[in-house]
Amino acid sequence: MSAPLTIAVDGPAGTGKSSVSRGLARALGARYLNTGAMYRIVTLAVLRAGVAPDDAVAVAELAAGVDLAVGFDPDEDLYFLGGEDVSLEIRGDAVTKAVSAVSAVPEVRTRLVERQRELADGTVAVVVEGRDIGTVVLPDADLKVYLTASPEERARRRNDQNVESGQPGDYDAVLADVLRRDHLDSTRAVSPLRAADDAIVVDSSDMSQSETVARLLDLVEHLDERMREEQKARR
Ligand code: DC
Repeated sequence: MSAPLTIAVDGPAGTGKSSVSRGLARALGARYLNTGAMYRIVTLAVLRAGVAPDDAVAVAELAAGVDLAVGFDPDEDLYFLGGEDVSLEIRGDAVTKAVSAVSAVPEVRTRLVERQRELADGTVAVVVEGRDIGTVVLPDADLKVYLTASPEERARRRNDQNVESGQPGDYDAVLADVLRRDHLDSTRAVSPLRAADDAIVVDSSDMSQSETVARLLDLVEHLDERMREEQKARR
């Protein structure tokens, strides 16, 4: 039997990365780890403590003591802070606005990366979703996918979701927010968002969610073949 697969799925916000990663984990009978949720839990702890998200020293100090726990089931969305279920609260506006600043603090990243490596230690199959999984957290992952889509398409999807959930639609504002977050995530000093050199870039602009999952499953199925080709090319 071959070792359990470790799959990294990275990419910017709004590509459908979470739904696609969950779908892939479900199809493979693997665990699912959402690392963005971990940054969100720390951000919630920062806000609750009344610490300013851009006060890097205070954020680093507080992050060292945060008691967080995450679920692994792709069919559930369970996240805990100090034993309290905060799964809904971490998706709220306050956390979403502050999370970029908190996730740019080096001490926060060091602590969470360490935790993520413990949770994805290769003993069970796992799909790990984030921004720096293929580049920093799991550089030896069996498969690295960088999922992307045009900013316009990502803004359109996000705006449609807002309208569906009863919020007023404002495509231009959503597009501006997508571009702002892309810029923050890709220019920060520690672990900027970028595709690993050996990642496979999948552009989902013209693909549905199920088509994207099917494409990733196809990549998993052809893993052995590709590894052999890469080994041959290196010789
Ligand atoms: O995927 P998300 O939107 O829930 O992520 C929330 C924030 O956390 C986002 O600003 C990027 C950051 N993040 C990160 O820096 N590294 C990760 N591995 C995952 C998320």
